[in-house]
Amino acid sequence: MASDTKHGTVTCLLVLGVLTVPVASVYTLTDSGGLGARFDGVGGLSGGGATSRLLVSYPEPYRSQILDYLFKPNFGASLQILKVEIGGDAQSTDGTEPSHMHSAADQNYTRGYEWWLMREAKQRNPGIKLYGLPWAFPGWVGEGQAFPYHRPETTAGYIVNWILGAKSVHNLTIDYVGIWNERVHDVKYIKTLRKTLDDNDLSHVMIVAPDGGWVQISKDIMADPELAAAVGIIGSHYPGTHSAPMAQQTGKTLWSSEDYSTVNNGTGASCWARILNQNYVNGHMTSTISWNLIASYYDDLPFPRSGLMTANQPWSGHYEISDPVWVTAHTTHFTAPGWMYLKGVGHLDGGGSYVALTDGKGGLTIVIEAMTHQYSQCVRPLLPPYSVKSGQAATFQLGGAFENITRLNLWYSKLIGSQVVHFQSKDPVVVSGGKFSIEVDENCLYTLTTVKQDQPKAYPKSPASAPFPLPYKAKFDGPADSSEAPYFADQTGVFELYVNESSSDHSRTLRQNVTERPIVWCNDADAAISVIGDYNWSNVSVSCDVMVESGGGAFVGARVDHGGCDVSQARGVFFWLLEDDTYNWVVSSDINRNYILGQGKVDATVVGQWHTLTLFAKGDNTAGSLNGKLLFDITDAQLPTTKGFAAVGTLGFQKVQFDNFDVDKAK
Ligand SMILES: *[C@@H]1O[C@H](CO)[C@@H](O)[C@H](O)[C@H]1NC(C)=O
Ligand SMILES: *[C@@H]1O[C@H](CO)[C@@H](O)[C@H](O)[C@H]1NC(C)=O
Ligand SMILES: *[C@@H]1O[C@H](CO)[C@@H](O)[C@H](O)[C@H]1NC(C)=O
Ligand SMILES: *[C@@H]1O[C@H](CO)[C@@H](O)[C@H](O)[C@H]1NC(C)=O
Ligand SMILES: *[C@@H]1O[C@H](CO)[C@@H](O)[C@H](O)[C@H]1NC(C)=O
Ligand SMILES: *[C@@H]1O[C@H](CO)[C@@H](O)[C@H](O)[C@H]1NC(C)=O
Ligand SMILES: *[C@@H]1O[C@H](CO)[C@@H](O)[C@H](O)[C@H]1NC(C)=O
Ligand SMILES: *[C@@H]1O[C@H](CO)[C@@H](O)[C@H](O)[C@H]1NC(C)=O
Repeated sequence: MASDTKHGTVTCLLVLGVLTVPVASVYTLTDSGGLGARFDGVGGLSGGGATSRLLVSYPEPYRSQILDYLFKPNFGASLQILKVEIGGDAQSTDGTEPSHMHSAADQNYTRGYEWWLMREAKQRNPGIKLYGLPWAFPGWVGEGQAFPYHRPETTAGYIVNWILGAKSVHNLTIDYVGIWNERVHDVKYIKTLRKTLDDNDLSHVMIVAPDGGWVQISKDIMADPELAAAVGIIGSHYPGTHSAPMAQQTGKTLWSSEDYSTVNNGTGASCWARILNQNYVNGHMTSTISWNLIASYYDDLPFPRSGLMTANQPWSGHYEISDPVWVTAHTTHFTAPGWMYLKGVGHLDGGGSYVALTDGKGGLTIVIEAMTHQYSQCVRPLLPPYSVKSGQAATFQLGGAFENITRLNLWYSKLIGSQVVHFQSKDPVVVSGGKFSIEVDENCLYTLTTVKQDQPKAYPKSPASAPFPLPYKAKFDGPADSSEAPYFADQTGVFELYVNESSSDHSRTLRQNVTERPIVWCNDADAAISVIGDYNWSNVSVSCDVMVESGGGAFVGARVDHGGCDVSQARGVFFWLLEDDTYNWVVSSDINRNYILGQGKVDATVVGQWHTLTLFAKGDNTAGSLNGKLLFDITDAQLPTTKGFAAVGTLGFQKVQFDNFDVDKAK
């Protein structure tokens, strides 16, 4: 648990006592004129893409500790919604996630780590709501077109299978399902999805649409009662705390179904505090979901550390409980989905905002934030200027069901400055005649609540941060907690642990298993690639056994400088073994083999046989050998990259197996 700094004093908190200070603005909180909207919860998004990739490989007890900080009630973030990606075999920001149906005939509900994560979340909080959304789809879903709406029944069946599999294999009830992340929606598809859900006894699953902008879906809903009935919730992304008037006119529940995306330091935490309140105050949104849940991907992939906390060193066990965790706690520890917002919530006269929620039984939780413009900017959208007074006095007058409250428990955080404080319990505030006053300081966050809770106890500090250990060897022997090999981060294609009992020397391998270009969300490379290690690796040797099953080729790479949606622009040193009559080995400085450093023909049967590729890079020298035989030794001052990940991959979407991966410092 974070606490006062050693200086001790809390400049930001001053309860003024029960008498109204003449200058204080007065804010009335009552239920007597009816209530506002239903609160649906604060959420985190795992995926979109592969953002929890490294978490599953953490050793115990750290893995469970991290999960407790995310999901355990009244402990850390205590999230109320877990949104996950429905893997589509394609790149979705920081990696690919596997589909439950690589092909039309295939169904497997144990791939990847999202199932595991949902089970762990439910185990800690049975009340947590689950929400699935696809970014990409396997190629077959398009039935010949790179588009998911060509045959709505096929796509709806594919999505409903995922929901049914969650139940039958994991006993997980999915509460919400989306359409296609930040891409066009299709009215016919939404109706078909609704019907397919209903036909499968899934009428409790609400459709969130479109996971994009407000306007087109609102127009469509206003024009079409059948669509209006099919859509449960309008979910928009990065709304900047405002919803379109037309969205409000639909009468639908409105969510910020993806938000935040900001580096999780004090600025990120302040962004999060501001939008958690103001998404309701300004935009009537009743849920806000953070992309991402946890930054469990390599720092040198896109949007580093843009999760509620960071855990991307499974080899060391190091993790960081970042500030947004405690900002989340200010709301989630003292509310639950189903609580109602009070009317009359809004802005403080001196800047900042307050919301109040009730359980309908006299319980009251008030969250007040006064984040400054300078320190609470999110990654997007642009934040229009505003000012916040320091030390403004605010008097709250409680009425209705709250008129006889005499004390409110007080929790506060100071997110910026020299004396940072996170989620600390203070003496209760005395309420007299339904009135109390408090001094609200800038960049501070306050919760005043009838809910009683002790200061949560933290786990001991996690182990020290350490670089990725070398040498690193992977034999792909398991035991596997997921279908993927620890630390490998797929950037195009899906690499799965594979068992071939009839093989004596390669019975456990890693296999690239996507055979058709998916319906992509961004710009997957033509080559499948999985990266591993440390972006700062410069002088390394990478070795791996490869077996091209039926055609195409394989590569090992060093100094790979791009992943994510830029993976198709990756430079580095790539050593290829190809099924090719002219040149069956190539060394290139890019993933597209546009920049050839060397090539040749070696006497080897590429397809169906195991070969060992060894690549060496040091300074401006690179050398490579096949089965111990040197094929090239090139010194070229033009080697484009000086550092980057190690990698394995395939020429295209073909099945290729990998075994005995070995990376070490170049000697
Ligand atoms: C499935 O989950 C429900 C709670 O959602 C629980 O009551 C039930 O016991 C679980 N069933 C099994 C077989 O674990
Ligand atoms: C948080 O990180 C961002 C991005 O690196 C930086 O611009 C900002 O100044 C940092 N904020 C604080 C409070 O350190
Ligand atoms: C507050 O107390 C008064 C006096 O006991 C009582 O009449 C009133 O019903 C109470 N209000 C609530 C909301 O309980
Ligand atoms: C499903 O996938 C998992 C993980 O890759 C694998 O272990 C399992 O054998 C697969 N099941 C079937 C029936 O193919
Ligand atoms: C590879 O994909 C096929 C479907 O194309 C599937 O049957 C098989 O189980 C997958 N392999 C693994 C290890 O999941
Ligand atoms: C499994 O191993 C056997 C024996 O080595 C081999 O003939 C077969 O091709 C292997 N299958 C695959 C899919 O690798
Ligand atoms: C890579 O090196 C840079 C500059 O020294 C450093 O800031 C960064 O933390 C390093 N990255 C990793 C993953 O160690
Ligand atoms: C890599 O090796 C080159 C050549 O020996 C050397 O100049 C360079 O400093 C090394 N880089 C690192 C990061 O060790």
